[in-house]
Amino acid sequence: MANDKTKSPSSSSNLKRRSFLGGIGLLAGACPFTTLALAAPAVLPAEANGHVTDAPLANATSPDDRVPFQGLHQAGIATPRPANGMVASFGVIADTPDDLEHLFRRLTARIGFLTVGGEPPLADPRLPPSDSGIVGPIVRPNGLTITIGLGASLFDDRAWLIDHKPMRLSRMTRFPNDALDAALCHGDLSLQICANTQDTTIHALRDIIKSLSDRLVLKWKQEGNVPVITPGLDQSVESSRNFLGFRDGSANPDAGDDHVMDQLVWVGARSGEPEWAECGSYQSVRIVRNFVERWDRTPLREQELIMGRVRNSGAPLDQPDASEFDVPDYAADMEGLSTPLDSHIRLANPRTAETAESIILRRPFNYSNGVTKAGQLDQGLLFICYQADLEKGFIAVQRRLDGEPLEEYIKPVGGGYFFALPGMRGDADYLGSTLIAALRKAQTQTS
Ligand code: HEM
Repeated sequence: MANDKTKSPSSSSNLKRRSFLGGIGLLAGACPFTTLALAAPAVLPAEANGHVTDAPLANATSPDDRVPFQGLHQAGIATPRPANGMVASFGVIADTPDDLEHLFRRLTARIGFLTVGGEPPLADPRLPPSDSGIVGPIVRPNGLTITIGLGASLFDDRAWLIDHKPMRLSRMTRFPNDALDAALCHGDLSLQICANTQDTTIHALRDIIKSLSDRLVLKWKQEGNVPVITPGLDQSVESSRNFLGFRDGSANPDAGDDHVMDQLVWVGARSGEPEWAECGSYQSVRIVRNFVERWDRTPLREQELIMGRVRNSGAPLDQPDASEFDVPDYAADMEGLSTPLDSHIRLANPRTAETAESIILRRPFNYSNGVTKAGQLDQGLLFICYQADLEKGFIAVQRRLDGEPLEEYIKPVGGGYFFALPGMRGDADYLGSTLIAALRKAQTQTS
């Protein structure tokens, strides 16, 4: 049986992940705060296998877990998903390339400090403290990643930026089942903030809001988390469950496989995209409400036919005794007798040669916001995915899903499309530097 995920502990992705965690980069001199001395970081939950959506393991994290924020690509895309995540969207105050550079440099400095950790300086008590204090006097990284994305409006609303817009970046449009709340949509800049603990993500957001209040105006945010699990006796790691009770992430592409990531997730050199965008990725965010009360009254067999998987194990319906990582054989089930043709997984990924380029890297979190005015639980999925081509990736998949039976139980209410910046190389660099260099070059050519 073919496997979507290779679980061998000695796989190359495993080794890669280990060395990745070992190579911690500091942003020396970038901020006045004292950074933590480098201790051997604790092992991050999904390090053992290299798959983004494996469930974080119980009792396996440490406040000193660090994910390097420097590298070819930004952290928080192909790195393992910790238990907590958040997307915050901002309006940007920047009227010139200098303003934008200023924003990027300061944002990088804050990310440099927060993802490494340290001791915020004591300020004169007659002044506001340098840090919110919500994680105590020492800031610990706790597996924090902060991933910057740029929205179409950042480019569209500024004449000096418009020519540099990533080719496929557009404003998210409404799909048939959407009931989008304008207050929860779009933005000039997104921050995806992920960490072991919720207070770490909130602390990071508050730090950035305070440090960059002259450049960033918060528009909306959505927090989420995923359950942590205890590994099986054979040390196997499963995918976390979503609020519909199913494992979510089973069929994600292997983020430890560079070739796969280069094809599906990272913008490459010959993609037709502006040069500055190389090594970045398109980020699609969707806040998808789940009608959990209705779902909980739906027969189990019907739930499984809607999803296309066995609820408890995550196995494909045509191999109910297999594991969640075994692959359904649609060619042997052309009429959909085992896996209905309109089931979620079959529409999302029909596994044909023609649809191979629409495979996306998902990194979702469950959210639970409270109670609606109608007395229902406001729960759902903070759906986040990454792809090299927005049209061939998320948009193509969502178009195939339009009209799926699952729509009776879900309602997308917000989100947006963003372009996740390329990574940064070395202490002297900053996130967004390639875009600023392209702007400077264009300025010189026209002057
Ligand atoms: C509340 C909304 C959603 C729920 C509850 C949900 C749930 C699931 C579940 C349980 C699976 C099977 C396990 C797995 O392979 O991960 C799955 C697979 C998948 N979902 Fe969703 N999903 C939702 C929204 C979306 C959206 C908005 C998209 C993209 C437009 C999407 C794309 C996919 C893809 C590509 C797969 C993998 C299919 C495969 O390769 O076999 N899902 N989803």
